Amino acid sequence: MTIDYRKTDKAHVWHPLFQHQRLEETPLAVFESAHGTTLVDAEGREYLDAYSALWNVNVGYGRQEIADAVYAQIQKLPYYPHSQINVPATVLAEQLAACLPGDLNHVYFCNSGSEANETAIKIARQYGRQTYPGENRYKIISRYRGYHGFTYGALSATGQARRRKAFEPLVPGFLHAHPPYCYRCPLGLDVSSCSIACADEIERIIQSEGPETVIGVIAEPIIGGGGVIVPPDEYLPKLRQICDDYGLLLILDEVITGFGRTGKMFACEHWDVQPDLITLAKGLTSGYLPLGACVASTAVFNAFLGESDENKEFSQVCTYGGHPVACAAGIANLEILQKERLWENSEKVGAHLLSKLETLRNLTIVGDVRGKGLMIAVEFVQADGTHLETATTNRIVGQLREKSIIVGKSDMLLTNRKISFSSHHR
Ligand SMILES: Cc1ncc(COP(=O)(O)O)c(C=O)c1O
Repeated sequence: MTIDYRKTDKAHVWHPLFQHQRLEETPLAVFESAHGTTLVDAEGREYLDAYSALWNVNVGYGRQEIADAVYAQIQKLPYYPHSQINVPATVLAEQLAACLPGDLNHVYFCNSGSEANETAIKIARQYGRQTYPGENRYKIISRYRGYHGFTYGALSATGQARRRKAFEPLVPGFLHAHPPYCYRCPLGLDVSSCSIACADEIERIIQSEGPETVIGVIAEPIIGGGGVIVPPDEYLPKLRQICDDYGLLLILDEVITGFGRTGKMFACEHWDVQPDLITLAKGLTSGYLPLGACVASTAVFNAFLGESDENKEFSQVCTYGGHPVACAAGIANLEILQKERLWENSEKVGAHLLSKLETLRNLTIVGDVRGKGLMIAVEFVQADGTHLETATTNRIVGQLREKSIIVGKSDMLLTNRKISFSSHHR
């Protein structure tokens, strides 16, 4: 049975981020079912899904309530475009506004994290044109190592050469600053005395470009795919302040960090920072159906109000945005999260896991252990402290899979050339 699936798949399916020529060497798993945190493959073997699929099955697999809600909504109203009201989208938007920090209260629904960021970027640019009519504010600053999606705008904000290089040139008007990656500070500084110079770099970019050309900063509160980079506590409040000082929008990409993963419902709550736009996907439905959202503050939303002949409406449409069935899944998912207070579980179980993983630090191959809630990374290094080679990383991930544990990996290397780094690393 499995062999047949593999054969058919090999003949017809093109998988993401996968070198098909290596299929014999690294066969793909055929997962057929799942419950809780356990995945079951076609041979009946069980695995602990320590990666939560793709950081997204926040409430776990096999939730009957979501299945029931989806079934009921398909029978009632499977689809109608969001140019009109549908009840699940309205209810979910109200519930999101109630649990998001501050006055983030106008929800634009789409289908994925990439689309949510694409939407945020476009809202920011249109906002810039409407709010500063005499200026030409369109530039957006993001960080190296950040990941915001695969579509052209979101990819342009992404700061990972590995994801970008095949598709360049990308969209003009995106600038990148160094991330708050304290383990290997790109500025060669030590967090105990750096005064968060990587945030100052963002201000320097704004000044160098001319503030009248910049409209926003987009950032993951904790960089996910770029290596689980938890910023120092001063970092996000500093970004907020810089955005306020220059009249820029702060866009927080909570596609991974949202919905309890880091020990709070939303990661920005750790630092008490409210963005002007927040982007959501993944844990919004825990992956049961595709759904993304970009949520705007009152001030941003109000900038789009005007007489019809002013043409201020947000000029983007998405056939499946606000899909009633996906939104019904979102409502059931949010109910589970809130009833079971799953962010508290992330905080508790995450702290336990982190403390256990900390004990690995005495291994030569372990350079750093870091994370927040259930978003945790172990950074492997070579004996001299430089990055581990991709092949070795792949071997570790493969060996964990043989031990029935599925983990993700982040590998930013484009070259084996070693860069010296500052003295606080061993
Ligand atoms: C932080 C972040 N933003 C955006 C995205 C893009 O989301 P999607 O793959 O749903 O388009 C991802 C995907 O992993 C992500 O990690």
